[in-house]
Amino acid sequence: MEIVICPDAAAAGTLGAEAIVTLVKGKPDAVLGLATGSSPLAIYDELAARHDAGQVSFAQARGFTLDEYVGLPAEHPETYHNVIRRDFVNRVDFGADAVHGPDGLATDIPAFCASYEAAIAAAGGVDLQILGIGTDGHIGFNEPGSSLASRTRIKTLTRQTRVDNARFFDGDIDQVPTHCITQGLGTIMAARHVVLVASGTAKAEAVHQLAEGSVSALWPATILQHHPHVTVLLDEAAASRLQLGSYYRETYAAKPAWQGL
Ligand code: GLP
Repeated sequence: MEIVICPDAAAAGTLGAEAIVTLVKGKPDAVLGLATGSSPLAIYDELAARHDAGQVSFAQARGFTLDEYVGLPAEHPETYHNVIRRDFVNRVDFGADAVHGPDGLATDIPAFCASYEAAIAAAGGVDLQILGIGTDGHIGFNEPGSSLASRTRIKTLTRQTRVDNARFFDGDIDQVPTHCITQGLGTIMAARHVVLVASGTAKAEAVHQLAEGSVSALWPATILQHHPHVTVLLDEAAASRLQLGSYYRETYAAKPAWQGL
């Protein structure tokens, strides 16, 4: 796991965007794992700017989103289907039907989840998965207690996550759905490169656990310690609880340029 401590969230976003631009230039039909939330916004802003400047095209790329609320009407602005289109997909040149996400209105949820796993596999698997992290250490919506081998399935959101996300629902926790469909930890672990981005002090403990805690279902993101290629992009605040912060800084400063992310 490579930890990169950046001066601010915008710098972290630029690094994440560069990794995606490099991937898509070398493999135009790359499969991207897309995440919602505020954390990846700096990445998406940078990618949209580079697309506008003619530096990158997503015309042949494919995308799979991590998760979705269960039961929100399709036209609700906070479905992750709508959020990812607003935040990223509609700002670049993905083909129609190139980006898929869990169906929060599926009538047969287990059958839908199996078909979603099959669709990711049929696309050749995810080349680069963008992730944020919840204050309780969740990735996707894999809340504490999630099986470390889990695949796409229905989950119940914790009260903490619903409190955190109430800001998108008029500050009213009662409007936040209680259930979601999320790619599992095992699904995320199958991505070839994972780029996790976090900023702000609220994420500092989760980031410390992610990189330096014991691997445990209590902090689901810790499963990423078993992944061979994870890049963690942080601002100073999110990095503030890291025990080995100075080592990560020295390592990144001394990194040979040819290694890339
Ligand atoms: C949400 C999403 C996650 C996201 C996390 C953090 O609940 N399901 O994919 O990473 O919480 O969100 P944010 O980046 O807005 O802090």
